[in-house]
Amino acid sequence: MGKDVIVACDFSSKQEVINFLSKFKDEKPYVKIGMELFYAEGPDIVREIKKMGHKIFLDLKLHDIPNTVKKSMNVLSNLDVDMCNLHAAGTKAMMEAALEGLTRPDGTRPLLIAVTQLTSTSEERMRDDLLIERPIDEVVMHYAKNAKDSGLDGIVCSPLEAGKVHDLCGSGFITVTPGVRFADGEVGDQVRVTTPAKAKEIGSDYIVVGRPITAAEDPVAAYRRCVSEFVG
Ligand code: C5P
Repeated sequence: MGKDVIVACDFSSKQEVINFLSKFKDEKPYVKIGMELFYAEGPDIVREIKKMGHKIFLDLKLHDIPNTVKKSMNVLSNLDVDMCNLHAAGTKAMMEAALEGLTRPDGTRPLLIAVTQLTSTSEERMRDDLLIERPIDEVVMHYAKNAKDSGLDGIVCSPLEAGKVHDLCGSGFITVTPGVRFADGEVGDQVRVTTPAKAKEIGSDYIVVGRPITAAEDPVAAYRRCVSEFVG
């Protein structure tokens, strides 16, 4: 499994993201495009960044009835993204339909990973708002297993959970992990953070890094530092 650093390009306009990516002359970082940029600029932003030679993780977290998700995944597959995602809470039927929609006539498809419980959801909110009584760790691992059983490639989780997910779902099941900070960097609004080196040690397959790179004085140097700590 090739480890890689995915740069979360949380910008709100094409101009900002192109300005940012044009700083990279010698390397082509894997780019995460989220809802903000996608809703602002539409699918053309994906085509444009792809044309620049970057791999793309399109982070749109689909969650709808299986038929709608299947058809939408087909559109994303035609957009030629490399990785996309959905909410495991949409059920196994939805995840299976998503995979079907994503698979191209030649059998190839982007990687498909699942969001289990958002890190913004606490155990208390799960219990009181969603009426889910089980401990959050158990729910996360159960959703990971559902994703694995549905044929998905992996999940988004904390680097701190990556080892446990691999133990449960196998080492080939991909862990994509945000919440990464340099040892001497600012934590910001993230709560449980890990350095790129520690994420490597625990077994993350991809780290998703936003502000430690996008807000750095020298983003290229920060990206290289991430790669050297995480990939080696
Ligand atoms: O700037 P920062 O490194 O905190 O960015 C992390 C990225 O990963 C953001 O795009 C954020 O939305 C995303 N993310 C996260 N925690 C999750 C899921 C996604 O930080 N549980």
